[in-house]
Order: sequence, then structure tokens, then C-alpha cells
Amino acid sequence: MANKCVSVAVTGAAGHIGYALVFRIASGAMFGPEVKVKLNLIELEAQLPALKGVAMELSDCGFKLLEEVNCTSDMAQGFANVDWALLIGAMPRKKGMERSDLLKINGSIFTEQGRYIDEVALPDVKVLVVGNPCNTNALIAASTVKRVNPNNFYAMTMLDQHRALGQLSQKSGAKIEDIDSCFIWGNHSATQFPDVSNATINGEKLENVITDEKWLRGDFLRNVQQRGADIIAARGLSSAASAANAVVDTVAACSGLWGDEIFSLGVISKGEYNVEPGIVFSFPCRYINGSVEVVLGYEHDEYGQKMMDNTLAELQAERDAVKNLAVI
Ligand code: LMR
Repeated sequence: MANKCVSVAVTGAAGHIGYALVFRIASGAMFGPEVKVKLNLIELEAQLPALKGVAMELSDCGFKLLEEVNCTSDMAQGFANVDWALLIGAMPRKKGMERSDLLKINGSIFTEQGRYIDEVALPDVKVLVVGNPCNTNALIAASTVKRVNPNNFYAMTMLDQHRALGQLSQKSGAKIEDIDSCFIWGNHSATQFPDVSNATINGEKLENVITDEKWLRGDFLRNVQQRGADIIAARGLSSAASAANAVVDTVAACSGLWGDEIFSLGVISKGEYNVEPGIVFSFPCRYINGSVEVVLGYEHDEYGQKMMDNTLAELQAERDAVKNLAVI
């Protein structure tokens, strides 16, 4: 019998990712079969009729763990007393747009959301930013808080990690579950560094199994870095189901459901791996003793360090751009 109840706010809840996400949260996929959930679904006022339809469908699913559903366009209500805020809603990237184009448009949205979260959410609320550019949007939202710990703001790179595993599995013929320790470093963007230098396949060093270095530094890298754009080109829409799946996995991992398994997550750097403190950078992370920590001790060769420097430079440029726009 479930006793514990987790309260989750989802912005953009009637959008494509939201629609693929909320049913999975309500089914128990995010917090496990013993935890009830309360959903605060947040949308723009114009989307409230569509959101009502989502709430109707949630009701029609007969989810035993779903305690309550609230639909609102009022962020003070939507973020009130939540344990988790999943910031999905943002101006979506359209064909041909780079994330930098979105910085200005989305900056004001994330400033406002950060302020509301700081005012009304539970003091130890955790915030996962998905709306792009998610690293810098997380930085923007985190920069507004006075009461909530800014280190509780995360940016999602689990989707990139899953994409990398998919590519590696297809190339090697190995099962996903047999591939370990492939992590994403840096920005959720075309500069991200999907790093296989510590990865293994069935316990064997990945580079001894996939010996095609040209592929690893060529098509593999490209396919992971550009997957979002490739999906937009193919579907005419951003990834939705895979993004929602990565949200489920990220929150589960950050809540201890993955035990001490290491996973990729954008967190505020405290200077780990010589990444400038304050930048939201994806590192290998692990849930330990109730919180999420960056896992130290991985090494980068010259190529890896170049990749790290490149993605860090992009994040620093995004940070400088939002500073110049007086967003932070
Ligand atoms: C993705 O990676 O699929 C999304 O972040 C969409 C995008 O803008 O690339």
C-alpha cells in the first residue's frame, strides 16, 4: 500500500513532451510502485482547454497511484509545495534555429519560473530543466533563488546519454544493458561531448570492441550531437517520447531509484574537472546519501580535453549572452 506522496509540477504539460510524460509519472514509472503522485500541470492560459483534455485522460486511466491533478496557468498555484518542478515548457527550437536564438526568448520565462519556485515550492524542491537551451535556462532559473538551494537545479542530458547508448548498441550489436559508463559532458547542444573513453561493453574496454576510431570520432559523435536536429528534420517536431523517457529516468536516478548507478546530468559546477564554477555543465553524477554528486576521478586525454574546453566555451558564451541581456 503506497503511503508516501510526491508532488510534481510540470510546465508545458499539454505540449508534446508533457503529453508523453504525465501518464508515465502517474503510472509510477518515475517514483516506483510504492509512491503516490500529485500532479500540478501548468500551461499557458490559451492551452488550458487542451490541458483539461489531458486531465480527463489521466482520470480515464484509472491510475492507482495518482492522488490528485491540478491544472493551472497560475505559477503561484502550480509550484505551490511541490517536491519536483519539471520545466518542460519553452519556446521550441524550430528548423534551422540554434539554441542561442532561444536564449533571449526563454530567458524571461525561466527567470519568472525560478522566482515562483523560490517563493512557493517546498524548500528542498528539485528542479529539472528540459526546455532549451536547458543548461543555460537552468542557470537563469537558479540565479533567481534566495531560499531554495541553487544546486537543486539540473539540466537534462540523460536523453543524450540514451542516444549515445543506442548508437553504440547498433554499431557493436551489444545490448544496451551490457554497455556501461558512457557519459555526456558539457552542454545539451551540438558541442556536447559523449565520452566513450571510460565505457565498457560486457566488461571489455569499449575501444577494444568498437575499434573503428574514425566512426567514434565521426558519425557517432555527429549522430549524438545532432540527434535533436535530425529528429526535428524527420518529424518536423522536436523529440517528445524519448525526451519524456529521459525525464522519467533522470528524476528516478536523482531520487535514488537507480541506486549508485552513474548517469549524466547538468549541474552547477563547483569547479569539478576544472569547469568554471557557476556554469551548468553535464557531468557523470550519482545519487548518494540523499543527494546528487558529481563523480570525480575520470581522466581525459588530449582529444577529450579539447572536447571539454569546446563545450565549456559555448556555455560560457551563453552565460555571457544572458548576462549582457541582463537576464541574470
Ligand atoms: C532534443 O535534443 O531533441 C531537443 O533538445 C530538441 C532540440 O532542440 O535539439
